[in-house]
Amino acid sequence: MSRLVVISNRVQSVDAPSGNQGGLAVALLAALREKGGVWFGWSGATTETFTGHINFQQGKGVTTATIDLEEQDFDEYYNGYANRTLWPLFHYRIDLTEFERDFSSGYARVNKRFAETVLPLIEPDDLVWVHDYHHVPLGRELRKLGVENKIGFFLHIPWPPMAMLLSLPSHRALVESMFAYDVVGFQTQDWLDSFLHYVTSQLDGVVGEDGWVTVGDRTIKAITTPIGIETADFEKSASSDTARHAKERMYMSATGRSLIVGVDRLDYSKGLAERFSGYERFLASHPDHRGLVYMLQIAPPSREKVDTYQEIRANLDSMSGRINGEFSDIDWTPIRYVNQGFPRDVLAGIYRAARVGLVTPLRDGMNLVAKEYVAAQDPEDPGVLILSQFAGAAAQLSDAVLVNPYSPEEMSDAIARALKMPLAERKARWEKLIDNVRKEDVMWWCELFITALEDAPEHVEA
Ligand code: F6P
Repeated sequence: MSRLVVISNRVQSVDAPSGNQGGLAVALLAALREKGGVWFGWSGATTETFTGHINFQQGKGVTTATIDLEEQDFDEYYNGYANRTLWPLFHYRIDLTEFERDFSSGYARVNKRFAETVLPLIEPDDLVWVHDYHHVPLGRELRKLGVENKIGFFLHIPWPPMAMLLSLPSHRALVESMFAYDVVGFQTQDWLDSFLHYVTSQLDGVVGEDGWVTVGDRTIKAITTPIGIETADFEKSASSDTARHAKERMYMSATGRSLIVGVDRLDYSKGLAERFSGYERFLASHPDHRGLVYMLQIAPPSREKVDTYQEIRANLDSMSGRINGEFSDIDWTPIRYVNQGFPRDVLAGIYRAARVGLVTPLRDGMNLVAKEYVAAQDPEDPGVLILSQFAGAAAQLSDAVLVNPYSPEEMSDAIARALKMPLAERKARWEKLIDNVRKEDVMWWCELFITALEDAPEHVEA
């Protein structure tokens, strides 16, 4: 059996308490435990100059290997090309996209450094699995160093429409580099279709049957494998003592009021300002609901060195203050806005206490909060998921109340509808949702991708 070498920007520490591990980390750690191998990536720390020193950690049957980034790399690769260029562009925000040559050279440099540093860790039969937009050209860098292993790439975020991608100065080189992989995976058919549209229109690519795509003399397999959550475990978390306590805290702090919950990284792609506007519209147009509902928005800060993230924070501070100033009563605050993260068990309890889960990104590769909200519900009295039609998860969770997050009126109507929804309808919708969340969980995703990589023909360099 082949070992697995996972490469991603961030690496989950093997020491992290299990309640603090994200679903992706849980799945990858499980796959690594089964197959053996190593998880390689950035430590999260920076040094003045790049040393290439690898810090190995072992625990619970898994080895992780991390390197520090040079400060200049942190600025140009992580804060620069990854999060000021690719992230906004791939989330359809050309208006926020910054094109700087220093960023693209930093991105190329870090991917080359990643390839050179991980090279000695790759054994001849290993499967190599590269993750996300930080590392699109990493496969090509590995090939340049003579790596002939099967290498797969999975994109966790959306793939942009061709017309948007054309605004990236080096778009062609970026997409061509993906043909160094053997398998490339996308979250949804929409993102895959956009990729194929670019490839056929710009690279004279030919799309064959069963996901085979040829450009020049390289043929790769392009697939959709939507990522899931660790459903069974999350369902258990929702009945844990910690979750029960968190749920009680929510009830006690707002007796008789319905909770509408949102949990998102503080990121413009999550549509938080639009969500606040939708809720404001709801309060304005449904005075009978005032005092009977409240919104809890949990939004831990993220990528704080990037200006657009500072701006969104300032904007949300001001919006939440304005809405509370306008609608609050002496014993009621319409929005609780919290800039900190919480452990998984606590979140599970909060989700379970919430009558409505509001998950309304403007664009999202998948969105796992939507799936966690579903998994946390009480089967006898489930809440209602309001989900953006622009989240990748909407393709699987079509029994949610789907909304256009740009429309405050649609959002307001959806909130009113969710709050009034009869138990029978809530149950019927939830049963279909949980069915999908259980079947297509994170292990299903992981196995689907690894099987596609195992089944790919031996790599032949063009
Ligand atoms: O969803 C994309 C992603 O980059 C994940 O890989 C990551 O866990 C998350 O966003 C948080 O971003 P960052 O690693 O920049 O804090």
